[in-house]
Amino acid sequence: MNLSASEIRKRIEALGPWFHNIDLRGVRTAPDHFLGDYPHMKWRKFADAIPEDLSGRTVLDIGCNAGFYSIEMKKRGAERVLGIDFDDIYLNQARFAAEVAGVDIEFEKLSVYDVSALGEKFDVVIFMGVLYHLRHPLLALDLIREHAARDMLVFQSMQRGSSKVLELEENYPFSNSKLFDDPAYPKMHFIEHRYADDPTNWWVPNAGCVEAMLRSSGFEIVGHPEDEVYICRTAARSEYSKPVYPAKGARA
Ligand SMILES: C[S@@+](CC[C@H](N)C(=O)[O-])C[C@H]1O[C@@H](n2cnc3c(N)ncnc32)[C@H](O)[C@@H]1O
Repeated sequence: MNLSASEIRKRIEALGPWFHNIDLRGVRTAPDHFLGDYPHMKWRKFADAIPEDLSGRTVLDIGCNAGFYSIEMKKRGAERVLGIDFDDIYLNQARFAAEVAGVDIEFEKLSVYDVSALGEKFDVVIFMGVLYHLRHPLLALDLIREHAARDMLVFQSMQRGSSKVLELEENYPFSNSKLFDDPAYPKMHFIEHRYADDPTNWWVPNAGCVEAMLRSSGFEIVGHPEDEVYICRTAARSEYSKPVYPAKGARA
């Protein structure tokens, strides 16, 4: 795409507001981001935890927003990158950013709850910054494990509450109610109205809850390179979590 800097700036303005600050040939999409140079400053801290060379691998970026991570995965040589998001504003930004960056990425309007419609599994699934925006977060993780993730999951969630992670026992007696008073016991905080002015924030877990949910949905945590970021491999799902809903067309 042969656009001048001022044409790029005009398109960026027309497609805004942007959540991802992406450098498009010297023009930044969100230079005044409230988190700083986001998500680049986060990516820098865990980029080494993902294979440098992704050639021959397929990548699914769920909640891709303007495609920052999709573009990074393509730059690492991934054979195919598919970014999905349920918001057309972000998908249009992502298509423009990829075009200016000169990378071939597919973007599709799809909710995480519909990943089974893709009918395929991906070597690397990126699920960053989406869990706490969902009313049904554990269902989303179960669906990703069941229908989309073949090998690696790159996961991030906002966390609040204790950052301590307890060694949990397999079972506790009914009489042990004190257990739940421990701030480090896996907990999700329900946001009925708003948090950070954002009505799409629904459930914010503590650190123990993130780890327990990932394990329960069938992800083994193999790396925790950066605050809130987990590198996982697909593993067996908890006996109690499968299968909670029949696949389309399956009989009960
Ligand atoms: C906080 S942004 C995170 C963007 C990016 N993944 C990152 O980590 O920088 C959350 C993104 O998830 C998308 N999203 C929220 N709920 C979704 C859903 N049910 N299915 C697909 N995308 C969703 C939003 O549209 C938004 O682009």
